[in-house]
Amino acid sequence: MNHSLNLGRSVFGHPDNKHKVMSRMEADMLLSEWVKNDRLRLHMMQVGKLMHHWAQEMEQMDDANAWRWELAGLLHDADWDQWPEAHCRKIIEELEKRQIDPEIIHAIASHGPVHFGVEPETRMDKMLFAFDELSGLIHAYSLMRPEGYSGMEVKGVKKRLKDKSFAANVSREDIVDACQRSGMTVDELISFIIRHQPAVCLA
Ligand SMILES: [Fe+2]
Repeated sequence: MNHSLNLGRSVFGHPDNKHKVMSRMEADMLLSEWVKNDRLRLHMMQVGKLMHHWAQEMEQMDDANAWRWELAGLLHDADWDQWPEAHCRKIIEELEKRQIDPEIIHAIASHGPVHFGVEPETRMDKMLFAFDELSGLIHAYSLMRPEGYSGMEVKGVKKRLKDKSFAANVSREDIVDACQRSGMTVDELISFIIRHQPAVCLA
């Protein structure tokens, strides 16, 4: 555990900024400036899309709210590439400066409770935490399958989940913890990700 990443606070943004977002173009500009690592950009895009689909299909949200969910996923690791020692703090400060919706900032702040010391509270928080590690493990699995995502089954993913040497940097403890908090089973989440995760960066 890295104590230096602890944010030391649990309130983010300002209530007056509720539902304030940035445009897709503004988000893309921020990402192209901050993130040079293509793999990391793909990861954030994937988590963003999962959040978007989840908001629409499972929470019956309209397009504007689905974009708020997507934005949390799209930006959650934006500072990891250039400022790993200030991970989370840097993007939070940027979003506060831009007067972005406090719910989005809180979701980003709580995507690693062990590291950042912020508990996931809202549905948005809990789903971002749940998708983060699982999305990465499933993508790593797709890269070792000649067919990629096509024909992928939940049981194949679970086998990789049990094999601790596979995608060893993916925290199995976080996955178990996040599934419990989300109220979903690991099978349900895996199945949702297989169905919705884009294999490559979408414009
Ligand atoms: Fe992430």
